[in-house]
Amino acid sequence: MADTKRQLNVLAKITTASVLLLVIVSGSCSKLAGKSQLLADGIARFYAPGIEPNQLPLSMALENEPVVIGSVDKSFRPMPSFGKDGLGRYSAKIKIEDGTSLYGTGEVAGSLLRNGKAIACWNKDCFGYNRLNDSLYQSHPWVLAVRKDGTAFGVLADTTYKCWVNLVNGIEFSSAENFPVIIINRNSPQEVLTALANLIGKMPLPPRWSLGYHQCRWSYYPASRVMEIANGFRSRNIPCDVIWMDIDYMDGFRIFTFDKKGFPNPAELNDALHKMGFKSIWMIDPGVKAEKGYFVYDQGCSGDHWVKTADGKEYNGKVWPGDCAFPDFTRPETRKWWAGLYKDFMATGIDGVWNDMDEPAVFKSATGTMPLDNVHRGGGKLPQGTHAQYHNVYGMLMVRATREGILTANPDKRPFVLTRANFIGGHRYAATWTGDNTSDWNHLEDSVSMALNLGLSGQPFSGPDIGGFCEDGDGKLFARWMGVGALLPFARGHTCKGNMDKEPWSFGENVERSCRAALERRYRLLPYLYTLFYEASVTGLPVMRPLFFAEPTNLKLRSEDSAFLLGGDLLVEPQLKESSKETVPELTGVWREISLVGENPAKDANQPVLKIRSGAIIPLGKVVQNTTEDSLDPLTLLVCLDENGLAEGTLYEDAGDGFGYRKGRYLLTKYAARKIGEKVIVEILSKQGKMQRAKRKTIVKLITANGVITTEGDETKQIVIDSTGLLQVEIKTKNKIAI
Ligand code: NOJ
Repeated sequence: MADTKRQLNVLAKITTASVLLLVIVSGSCSKLAGKSQLLADGIARFYAPGIEPNQLPLSMALENEPVVIGSVDKSFRPMPSFGKDGLGRYSAKIKIEDGTSLYGTGEVAGSLLRNGKAIACWNKDCFGYNRLNDSLYQSHPWVLAVRKDGTAFGVLADTTYKCWVNLVNGIEFSSAENFPVIIINRNSPQEVLTALANLIGKMPLPPRWSLGYHQCRWSYYPASRVMEIANGFRSRNIPCDVIWMDIDYMDGFRIFTFDKKGFPNPAELNDALHKMGFKSIWMIDPGVKAEKGYFVYDQGCSGDHWVKTADGKEYNGKVWPGDCAFPDFTRPETRKWWAGLYKDFMATGIDGVWNDMDEPAVFKSATGTMPLDNVHRGGGKLPQGTHAQYHNVYGMLMVRATREGILTANPDKRPFVLTRANFIGGHRYAATWTGDNTSDWNHLEDSVSMALNLGLSGQPFSGPDIGGFCEDGDGKLFARWMGVGALLPFARGHTCKGNMDKEPWSFGENVERSCRAALERRYRLLPYLYTLFYEASVTGLPVMRPLFFAEPTNLKLRSEDSAFLLGGDLLVEPQLKESSKETVPELTGVWREISLVGENPAKDANQPVLKIRSGAIIPLGKVVQNTTEDSLDPLTLLVCLDENGLAEGTLYEDAGDGFGYRKGRYLLTKYAARKIGEKVIVEILSKQGKMQRAKRKTIVKLITANGVITTEGDETKQIVIDSTGLLQVEIKTKNKIAI
């Protein structure tokens, strides 16, 4: 026994010695982290030993090349160590402390928490999400790490090449080419994300209509079917703002053309839709049919705009129209030409553009995309490079040009572009949806965790195909998906050609009723949602947030991805499982259940439970059928007092479109409520902006444990609520739905 003990002691000493040695070795490894640059307090860029910063291509993730403010102190934490991974690829490793939770990595299916996962960042067409552990259509080589104590850091592997993110044992990025890493060290995950947004840019404020509900399907054909859908919404009083045109409108899938039979007069169709309060979004793919006499192809040939093969020929690959040439978006001349194509297109009254297949997807090819040795010629600050170098940013460069094009075509309107492929930083140009999911319960669950992780990777504006793209599903799934989807940042129903009808009324009366209620909730919440989008455009914080944002030190919240927060004040608890509701860990403080349109989630599982944070004021509009209707008269303020009898909230308003807000034509109002004796006083605390406040009625709903007290008033004066009796027992009592 004693011998065994001694042996164990010796073993322990040897182990300690080798651990020490390892620490020294890895310490020397981290010293080997070559050149480093301090970009801000707590933000640094590191290069592998022997690499000069100017040897590597300029960052495509960052909005601007950052100013280097000094050198990195040895005490900077965490420090990366550079070397090679097990497969001989360049690698950068970052150690994590026990209890650190990892997030981000962009558009990956599966859980919110990414610890233990290994992901390849490579944009790919993934019908039905056939790649479980990899990024899908877009790449975000970025990890957000939240330590046990709630402090956080983020790591960006700043490479456009295929990049592996291994989170099995700490954080390791690897790639076939050398790359720098940028590390952001902050006191909270929120601070990491705002610092990230300062580097990669913020989402430009989208037009307000794009926050409404969108109806799409592959196979709306002909124009009369589109009008049938539009009428379907209006005749049934189901709110909707946008109808989408998939590839079916094109003449033989030639982009920038219209099918003469089905869509002979797009301007007339757009006009008719506009008269009914709809906007229209039309699809444009990158593949240009390689056919002499087709104007886009002819222009592309004479402008020498195509991606080339390794031996300098025009590259052709098959997509919907057959053999296609692909614009080389790395070339400034090509982006300019591409942008110019939108002039006539948008002149038909199109409101927004959907760029699809922009990974780029190529049919019948070994890799699903173009050969990796194809050549992109670059220009401006971009060097010539292979497709291996530019594959992951092909979609991002495309939507950059698209955005420029539609902005030039309609300089007084905010562009709206939706893209399938993208790269970290690409939220500067386009919103996104999570591609071809399947109509099943697993993918309904993934809708929440995926939109959350996209938000934690810099993209605030995303959502799934509500109802599921592949396969039919059924009414139960559809109604549940609509209930959740209506509360995600981007809300669009879409499905594949050949599937059954999947409009909100396609599954019978009960599902229709449920969908109507779900969408009415979204429209009531629009003032709050729009305020969150405004805040995201200013701060870079996501619109939709994980629960741990409310309490970064509460470890029970770290893997919670069945519920989520909208902004800081609204908790959303959907039932994502078919027949049982997940138990959501309780947040500290009081969160009170609210009802927006008379719904009762206890009786209708399709409507997520909504809870307001005590201490918050949430602005609501009225139920409207689309955003062209005035939704702020009356304005409703939901007020929920904290234990000190106080509450605050913000409302952002502007024209909803155009750029007047940049010249001060907006109104940012901060409301405050305070309890004085038996009275609660609600008033404007501060305001910013030059926009005239509309004369409107304001309804205040005081949410208490014992019910709701409703008072009407004029927001420019104090609104006084007499709460005699009601507030005395309410603080700290259990949540009770307030209808
Ligand atoms: C693939 C897209 O993911 C899908 O949404 C679209 O309907 C089809 N392409 C057809 O354009």
